Amino acid sequence: MKAAFIERFGGSEVLQYGDLPDPVAAADEVIVDVVAASINAADWKVRSGQYSEAKFPLVLGRDFSGVIAAKDAAVEDLKVGDAVFGVLEAGREGAYAEKLAIKGAIVARKPDTLSHVDAAALALAGITAISALEATLQLKHGETILIQGGAGGVAGFAIQLAKHIGARVITTASKANLDYVRGLGADEVIDYNAVDFTRAVSGCDAVFDTVGGEVAQKSFAVLKPGGRAAFIASGWQAPKPERGDVTSLRPPVGRSRPVLERVAALVETGAVRPPEIRLFTLAQAAEAHRLSESRHFRGKLVFQVRGER
Ligand SMILES: NC(=O)c1ccc[n+]([C@@H]2O[C@H](COP(=O)([O-])OP(=O)(O)OC[C@H]3O[C@@H](n4cnc5c(N)ncnc54)[C@H](OP(=O)(O)O)[C@@H]3O)[C@@H](O)[C@H]2O)c1
Repeated sequence: MKAAFIERFGGSEVLQYGDLPDPVAAADEVIVDVVAASINAADWKVRSGQYSEAKFPLVLGRDFSGVIAAKDAAVEDLKVGDAVFGVLEAGREGAYAEKLAIKGAIVARKPDTLSHVDAAALALAGITAISALEATLQLKHGETILIQGGAGGVAGFAIQLAKHIGARVITTASKANLDYVRGLGADEVIDYNAVDFTRAVSGCDAVFDTVGGEVAQKSFAVLKPGGRAAFIASGWQAPKPERGDVTSLRPPVGRSRPVLERVAALVETGAVRPPEIRLFTLAQAAEAHRLSESRHFRGKLVFQVRGER
């Protein structure tokens, strides 16, 4: 199969495009012919060696959409030819490829109304946003939430989910993306280059930070007493607040079929629409990584691995 992979850690130049052996289904696994795979910030963090050891050659990538090409006999609820989407097991990479192996229990059927490209774009971003807003922050109707980094993949899903829950949404973006985040339903948008959000926002029930660094640490200031904040771009530990009257949380992002089905249902019912997408081929992986690593684009970057089926 063709794949985009690395044989050592480094900059985008270490990404190679070439042939690797096809995967074989182990116990409880299915083999997916990948139609689309998305690029996540985690991919260039893995590529640069931030996540410890790896076995080379290492195919990067976590979420995908495609068609089941083969399966272990123990997988009884899926069949060859089913269109599925999903996210590889935590700690596993391997979606930038024409084929991948994954436990059948953690993939979900792709609705016919959703293209493979959209499904791949929504998988990891969707389960992360759902985990953060519903399971971790337990956001409620009528509450106000500040979502940092509104134009990104996870935040774009989160803005729409928060509106669906009935919350008031404030978000931050650069000037070029203000109309985009308004279009996703944000009630108030802040151009973070022109305005210090800590001066413009206060009294929030919740914060969802997808930016990290100083933005994460400063976000505690906008919370009302008893407020809660969730962080996904600050490593595996939530940052420590300098005040004692708020809660700082790090959402777990477990892989499961039900949460992917919820992603699909939110899109099918129109509560969430797919993000703006820029397409690449696997051979353009280095270019896609450079753009992702710049952290200034909107929506999602997606590999079209083979034609839609
Ligand atoms: N399972 C997990 O824990 C998990 C899953 C997914 C993602 N993540 C992490 O979550 C983070 C977000 O990922 P992502 O894929 O949604 O997006 P991303 O690629 O990291 O972010 C891109 C977006 O960030 C915005 N941005 C950059 N700096 C900003 C700032 N100072 N203030 C406001 N917005 C800013 C950019 O918009 P502008 O061009 O408008 O600045 C751009 O649209 C990453 O660090 C990723 O590793 C964690």
